[in-house]
Amino acid sequence: MDTIPVEDLDTAIEQYKALGYRLDMIFPADNPREAVVSRGGESVQLVLENHPVGETSAPLLRKEGSWIKGRAGMEYRDLIPDRMGGKVIASHIRLTTGGEVPDYVHYHKIDFQMIYCLKGRIKVVYEDQGGSFWLETGDCVLQPPEIRHRVLECEANSEVIEITMPAEHETWVEHDITLPTDELKPDRDFGGQRFFVTSLRTADPAFPNETTCEEFAERMKSVITPDEILDAVIDVSRSLCRM
Ligand SMILES: [Fe+2]
Repeated sequence: MDTIPVEDLDTAIEQYKALGYRLDMIFPADNPREAVVSRGGESVQLVLENHPVGETSAPLLRKEGSWIKGRAGMEYRDLIPDRMGGKVIASHIRLTTGGEVPDYVHYHKIDFQMIYCLKGRIKVVYEDQGGSFWLETGDCVLQPPEIRHRVLECEANSEVIEITMPAEHETWVEHDITLPTDELKPDRDFGGQRFFVTSLRTADPAFPNETTCEEFAERMKSVITPDEILDAVIDVSRSLCRM
């Protein structure tokens, strides 16, 4: 695969799309510096000039509190300043513009990922988990590895907290599966995990799972020690208190 250094990743992706290429992968989601595009089986890797392939995340760590433009028009800021050496990222994500979100069906190569809706509401859809639904303030999703999903709409100024392991991971575009899928498979295994959503609206039959908290805890303990979880929670709490 050819590697092409580029000055601006978004601009380069659009230029390649105009030539008939499609976006396959972007890395990392919160501050992309690599992408793979393809056309007719030929893939090209686009890499920001200042961040060669294989470079670690360390030079990219940002000053606490700063917002940066991420994937699909969303803004990100880090809540755990050192990301525990790359083990975990807690992103505070905001969507300032309401309406349709310029997202596409995609999946992440991750070990653990949970999303908590801090403010507003966001319409999402997940592979084999039924139709789209609104993730509202206080709702939480356990998003298993490589489950196909898409953000469809949001209210203006919605905010979520996304906790993911490892901190840097690939986001792949799904070209063949459209959502929602025809089948409902709530027990489907995705990389040893299941999809869970918990909601304050407990009467809603779309959100029946009572084991969510235990499942979250078990998943977290499988990839990070209890002491590290505590450290991460303290960091997130401190960062949010300084908002
Ligand atoms: Fe995603």
